[in-house]
Amino acid sequence: MESKILVVYYSLEGNTKLIAETISEKLSSDILEIKPKKDIDSHSKMKYLIGGKQSVIKEKPELIPYDINVENYDILFIGTPVWAWTFAPAVRSFLESTNLKNKKIALFSCNGGANGKTFENMKDKLQGNEFLGQIEFKDPLKNDREENVEKARKWAYDICKLNIK
Ligand SMILES: Cc1cc2nc3c(=O)[nH]c(=O)nc-3n(C[C@H](O)[C@H](O)[C@H](O)COP(=O)(O)O)c2cc1C
Repeated sequence: MESKILVVYYSLEGNTKLIAETISEKLSSDILEIKPKKDIDSHSKMKYLIGGKQSVIKEKPELIPYDINVENYDILFIGTPVWAWTFAPAVRSFLESTNLKNKKIALFSCNGGANGKTFENMKDKLQGNEFLGQIEFKDPLKNDREENVEKARKWAYDICKLNIK
């Protein structure tokens, strides 16, 4: 039986979305965008302050309900923007509302240059799973977009080439 692959991500400003859609397209996988019911205004000058604080105090915003059962998948790619050197609050809500065990998981992030403890902290929340890889992208909408898209395609393909039954 073929492995079932899901790409899950949150994105405020579109960078993580670009990478998530690239991976999902390359692997012909399902995709799930998680969104808080009340998200930050991405045009607000206060977004760094508000989002940074939410991240630091480990807030778990309520998510818009989704109808995908993530536990039905074998391989999950989980993507986040970096907020205050860690994963975004919406991803915290997601990770704490699911019970992922014995899955194969690959992590990706978009940042402005400082990934901090993003992957370390995500892995901590995802204990009991096998990690296939991790990769970060520096604001791919602004920097070398096509190169970053190609890097995402290659990374995702290489991971799945080794892991698809
Ligand atoms: C609230 C907030 C906090 C951020 N904190 C960091 C950070 O700690 N390190 C970093 O490199 N970039 C940081 N950034 C920049 C984003 O991680 C980066 O622009 C990313 O590509 C955005 O992804 P998105 O377009 O999917 O939302 C922050 C952005 C926001 C809005």
